[in-house]
Parts: sequence; C-alpha cells; structure tokens
Amino acid sequence: MLYLKNYFHSVISSWRVQSPSVRIIRLWLGVTWIYGGWDKAIDPGFLAKTGATSIARQLEGYSQSSPLGFLFQHLIERANLVGVIVMISEFAIGLATLFWVAPTLFAFSGFAMSIGLWLSATWHVQPYFLGSDTAYAILWLAYLLAVIGARRKIDISLDRRGTIRLGLVGAFAVMASAVGRVLQQSPKGDASALNANATGAQILASSKLAVGANHEFTTTSGEPAILFRTAVGVFAYSEICTHQGCTVSYLESERSLRCPCHGASFDPFNGAAVKAGPALSPLPSIKVVEESGWIVYA
Ligand code: FES
Repeated sequence: MLYLKNYFHSVISSWRVQSPSVRIIRLWLGVTWIYGGWDKAIDPGFLAKTGATSIARQLEGYSQSSPLGFLFQHLIERANLVGVIVMISEFAIGLATLFWVAPTLFAFSGFAMSIGLWLSATWHVQPYFLGSDTAYAILWLAYLLAVIGARRKIDISLDRRGTIRLGLVGAFAVMASAVGRVLQQSPKGDASALNANATGAQILASSKLAVGANHEFTTTSGEPAILFRTAVGVFAYSEICTHQGCTVSYLESERSLRCPCHGASFDPFNGAAVKAGPALSPLPSIKVVEESGWIVYA
C-alpha cells in the first residue's frame, strides 16, 4: 500500500515539475499512442491477410516503397507477430509515458518507432510536412531531450521497483490489446458493400455532370465515393484508400486521386490503378449507369 502511495506520488510529482509545454507534449504523445494501439486492437482487418488495414498488406507495400524495403520483405511472413508487437508496443509506450515508467527508454522507443513509420508508412508523402510521422518523430525527440535534461530534478533510475513497474506496463499493454481484440468492430471499408447499393437508386441528375467533371457523393452504404464523366461515359470509385482506409480526393493538377495519409495516388482514368504506393490495389469501382436522365447504381 505504502509502495503504491509512493509510486502515485512520484507520478504526480513527475507532472508537476515539468514545464507546461513538456506536459502538453507528454499528454498528447501518451494518449495518442494508447489510441493507436486501441485502434489496431479493435480493427478486425489489422491481423487479416488482406484488406485496407491489414498489417500483411502494409508490410508488402513497405517492402516495395520504403528505403528499408529489404527489411520489410523478411517481415511479411511474420506479419501477425509484427502486428501484435506493434499493437502492444504502442499501448506500452503510451501508458509508460503517462505513468512515468522508464521515461527515457520509452521516449526513445517512441522516437525510434516514429522514425520507422516515417521511413515506411509516410516516406512518399509529399510535401514531407504532411506526413504525421515526421512531426511525431520531432515531438518524441523534444520530449526525450526534456526527460534527459530533467535527470537532476526527477529520479528515473530503473531499480527493482522500476523493473516491476516496467513489467506492469507490459502486462497492462497485453491486457488492453486482448480486450480490444475481444471488442472488435465490424470490418472497415468492405469493398463488397459498395456494390450492395440499391440497384437503380439515383445518385445525380445526368445534366449536373458535364463531360470532364466529377462529383463526390456518399453511397447508400455510407462510403465516400466519386463520379466522373468522360467522353466514354460515367464511372465511379470508392474514395477509401486501399492502403489503410483514409479518404482520397481528386487532384485536378495531377489528374489523380491522392491519399493524404501516406501519399498513394490512383489513376481514375485507368480503372483507379495505383500510380504511386504504398497502396497495392486499385480503388474499388462502383457500378453506375445512366437511366432516364439520372446516374444510378447498376
Ligand atoms: S491510407 Fe496510406 S496511402 Fe492511403
């Protein structure tokens, strides 16, 4: 009991002695890393072999597009293990950051993980500052330097009790991952749902889509989608990126559908084929036709 009291006292004092700016960074990083682990834990597609958020597909994409591709190549066959490690590590880094457990070790882990994500998931994002992992790497670095600089004010040595705390953080991270897997959500971005839209349901009056124009809409199954008309006719695609499920948008200057998350781009005038990774598959197409002055689901 006394031990717990002392521990909570040290957690509170670790927050107290930090400057407001360091506290904000610490809170943001801790909460965000826990959320990252939780998001993966409740995503049924994360440990699946295929799908927009599958870790196996992501590793496959990184093996082709990252400067560390050779490394990811070896990890593809152990994708599930990699996924579980990433998920538990995110929980552990977040919890340890908030609850002041081995702060230097976990701040460094957060920094190293962000660098890894930058070299893989956001390597192709243009311009670079739109890639969130570069910003996270800098935040972790700033926080790491603040922790190292505070050595004189706060005791961060890893004694026997510190080791026990480390073990507890690991146990909580495993438990949180297990709870997330039990409470999984329904799959994200199910392409088959796109063509389960009510046949004949109206999307847009034909007169409102001139040749060369496009129009964003929401499918009856709730997915963001985009319609195009060319001299050849009308066609439509889901706007859910096949990499990790972000929403793409059309860039007139590039004549491509670009994903803001990791920079994938798709060619809408060639079956939404991948123009640039890390996505590997085209955007799902949505069957549409023109009938009685309307563009409708086929
Ligand atoms: S979600 Fe990663 S490129 Fe689209």
